[in-house]
Amino acid sequence: VRRRAVQAVQVQPGDTVLDIACGTGLNLAALSARVGAAGRVIGIDMSSAMLLIAEERVQAGGLRNVELVNAPVGDAAIPELADAALFSFTHDILYSPEATRAALAYLRAGASVVACGAMQKWFPGRLGWWLPTLISRGFTGDREPMERPWERLAAHLAHVQTRRLAAYLGTMYVCAGRTRTIPQTST
Ligand SMILES: C[S@@+](CC[C@H](N)C(=O)[O-])C[C@H]1O[C@@H](n2cnc3c(N)ncnc32)[C@H](O)[C@@H]1O
Repeated sequence: VRRRAVQAVQVQPGDTVLDIACGTGLNLAALSARVGAAGRVIGIDMSSAMLLIAEERVQAGGLRNVELVNAPVGDAAIPELADAALFSFTHDILYSPEATRAALAYLRAGASVVACGAMQKWFPGRLGWWLPTLISRGFTGDREPMERPWERLAAHLAHVQTRRLAAYLGTMYVCAGRTRTIPQTST
């Protein structure tokens, strides 16, 4: 799922990409390779414990183009508008309209945005609700898994494409789009 998500991020060598709520940094090496030595990866997470592990990963991998910012999304000091952002298993952010908006504010118009994670899925018959829910809950913790967790994020984006993946009995998705170049008018 992570590999598919990182591949879906549209970046050029030299670009800046944000790993929103990067956790222990499982996506940092792949993002680092995508933007190259001239690029920049900025991982943001409010948990210093998670970032300690991420920092070990950065050191062990010699990821010289990666920076880690220990702050709630919205309070991070990001020096320039970024070209892309990854929301990987960041259900806390996707469930919060404020946090989602705060993360998108770090991006330039037309930036590539990708989200991936677990969703609620319904099976016919006896497997019905509980098996996919059990799987999704493994990834969303206390949160009730949503059927379309990408929806609030996607409402801010253009050119949205969502794929449901076969992994974990079809409970995984990758959603990709771009920040709007023309501001949305309220109706
Ligand atoms: C499931 S974990 C790690 C996800 C990571 N992106 C990955 O793919 O492994 C979710 C992370 O979100 C972080 N988080 C939750 N709410 C946050 C917020 N408002 N600002 C920054 N980080 C947040 C948590 O500290 C946690 O490390």
